[in-house]
Amino acid sequence: MSRLVLENVTRRFGGLVAVDDVSFSVPTQGVTAVIGPNGAGKTTLFSLISGFLPPSSGRILFDGTEITGLAPEKVAARGLVRTFQLVKLFEDLTTLENVKVGRHLHTKAGLFAALARTPAARREEREVEARARDLLAFVGLAAKADAHASGLSYGQQRLLEMARALAADPRLVLLDEPAAGLNGEESEQLSRIIRRIAEAGTTVLLIEHDMTLVMNTADRVVVVDFGRKIAEGTPAEVRANPAVIAAYLGGTETAPTRRTEAGRG
Ligand SMILES: Nc1ncnc2c1ncn2[C@@H]1O[C@H](COP(=O)(O)OP(=O)(O)OP(=O)(O)O)[C@@H](O)[C@H]1O
Ligand SMILES: [Mg+2]
Repeated sequence: MSRLVLENVTRRFGGLVAVDDVSFSVPTQGVTAVIGPNGAGKTTLFSLISGFLPPSSGRILFDGTEITGLAPEKVAARGLVRTFQLVKLFEDLTTLENVKVGRHLHTKAGLFAALARTPAARREEREVEARARDLLAFVGLAAKADAHASGLSYGQQRLLEMARALAADPRLVLLDEPAAGLNGEESEQLSRIIRRIAEAGTTVLLIEHDMTLVMNTADRVVVVDFGRKIAEGTPAEVRANPAVIAAYLGGTETAPTRRTEAGRG
């Protein structure tokens, strides 16, 4: 069973085809990575899946139900959430409060009832807080619960962003370059957390440039270049794929050759 299915998904920006007729499935179990050179269309793909952009054509199915063109909050309410390539936190809130905001997406009473402080809302608030603390412990930030988000290191902010996304109890989480800007040790910690998210039953789809992290963390890899899917398989398979090697080398030494080939395709 597939958690997510993309069928011939295309997105144009004027004359530019940022995502070009892409089809692939994400299995319910495990971690799937989307890799590709800068500008390949990876983030655009995530925006299409999470409802931040409508596709120009094609279909997207989440657990067998079509979600093509649904608004981001509708998609999130169904259990599909994303993080962003650039960290987007509420800097004036504490670490704990940031996670609680992510949780309120999910609760019946919602944020406004929580502010109104009815008895039902107070009970819910205690549950939200307990769950938020669990998630902070899960990403290793329990000791930072009451610190302002702006006072966290960059690596800690990335972990907080992940905890906030998980607070909505998603069935599928999209992580856009979670290891960007992290040092080696932080990347390894992140890799372990991502594996544990998947083991706990949340499907993970991640974009990543850090190949060590991809090779250590992903069960399957989808490779895109110039908006098109050029390969798909296990990490070992895609690493040995000549089209993938050419795409990556083409980004530097052999750029003119690569452009000509893309023009033909
Ligand atoms: N809102 C937009 N309007 C116009 N063009 C866009 C828009 N968003 C992305 N693009 C273009 O679409 C292409 C794909 O961009 P995208 O951000 O999806 O690439 P990416 O694979 O995520 O790259 P990176 O690895 O650098 O993050 C690029 O050429 C980019 O300039
Ligand atoms: Mg991107």
